Amino acid sequence: MKSPTRQAPSATSGVVIDKRRLLRDLNAISRIGIGDHGGVTRLVFSIKELRSRQLLIHLMRQAGLTIHIDRIGNIFGRLNGESGRGPAVLVGSHLDTVLHGGKFDGTMGVMAAVEVVRTLKENKVKLSSPVEVVSFVGEESSRFGYSTLGSSLVAGEVRGGDLNNAVDAQGTKLEDVLASMGIHRRNLRSLRRDPSTVKAYLELHIEQGPILEAKKKPIGVVTSIAAPTRFKLLLTGQADHSGTTPMEMRKDALVAASEVIVAVEAICRRYSRMEKGRVVGTVGAMKIEPGVINAIPGRAELSIDIRSITAASKKRAVRLVQRRIHDIARRREIRADILPIREEDPVPLDTRLVHLLQECCETRSIPYEVMPSGAGHDAMQMAKIAPAAMLFIPSRRGISHSPLEWSDPEDICRGTQLLLDVIVRIANEKI
Ligand code: GLV
Ligand code: MN
Ligand code: MN
Repeated sequence: MKSPTRQAPSATSGVVIDKRRLLRDLNAISRIGIGDHGGVTRLVFSIKELRSRQLLIHLMRQAGLTIHIDRIGNIFGRLNGESGRGPAVLVGSHLDTVLHGGKFDGTMGVMAAVEVVRTLKENKVKLSSPVEVVSFVGEESSRFGYSTLGSSLVAGEVRGGDLNNAVDAQGTKLEDVLASMGIHRRNLRSLRRDPSTVKAYLELHIEQGPILEAKKKPIGVVTSIAAPTRFKLLLTGQADHSGTTPMEMRKDALVAASEVIVAVEAICRRYSRMEKGRVVGTVGAMKIEPGVINAIPGRAELSIDIRSITAASKKRAVRLVQRRIHDIARRREIRADILPIREEDPVPLDTRLVHLLQECCETRSIPYEVMPSGAGHDAMQMAKIAPAAMLFIPSRRGISHSPLEWSDPEDICRGTQLLLDVIVRIANEKI
């Protein structure tokens, strides 16, 4: 996409982030949960994830921010503006990771936000509005299948029905974890933040895709976020003896699952081009029972994630996939149960902020790409209660959710400096 020509750019704030300090702290937090192959595992509510939160609290305290932690564990570190009151500019991301993920997804955005705010404080930059660093709990769906948990609670977007099928691999129910923190179906909206207290939400994130690198652009200005439809599929056939059951008499749940997996790929490929809605579909996890060499699989449980940048193309792909599932099950005489996890529509980001971000890039003569996001982010929940915007920096070879995830320090620092410019403008301007 081509960036529109804009008017004369305004000046930058003039203050400069401390690159060494930013990279040092990003490295330090990335060591929490690091594994043998350089991958980072900080699943939500795990000991490692809690330790990363402790380090963040320590950094916020050192920076002299006023800390508030809500009941789910979202952390807010506030720098008051001139009046100390009024709606705040929120800036942040998440610290939890996928299983064997990278160092940058989410974490880079939180650490960048800390660096921005401490730079503003040290330099006594005049701010009309308060600025709050935020770290949201459980953005990743890797543990419970449920994404953007903390920001969804802050936006008042978690519904009781969402919790029905949110269970981790050990059988722990998300609903029970929430109950242990005093969050129940009856008070799911009690963590909702009053929209009048949020002036805007900003998130700096790695792209997690190949576009910026391919186009040699150091910054992406995000216009919208693709949202997933997620469900579990339970296929129930008949477990039986692998030596005595003739092929034509089997009800093999795993063979049916294999057909489903291939169908998800084929259907989503049909609509994968940008002009067809950039549909993507993934079967990311599967459990088979009994799961031994000498028994026909009687049960298969699959997790299915289908996304698109348009609601209509996602709905069409989901409909086709589900129809195919029922065809396969009927033909193979097995039972198929579809258990919904979450259904969301793609989220447009705030147009005025998109323009402001473009202006800030132009002020610094930074080439940028205006683009949608294929990955989900906390910004898609925050957009429901406040004007929200996102900046991307390049991901090497577009790889993410992998130990190979990498972004150049230079890109991280450039993105953080740009984020500072943006925050100062939003804090001091009427938007
Ligand atoms: C978040 O990382 C996602 O799954 O999009
Ligand atoms: Mn992320
Ligand atoms: Mn992620």
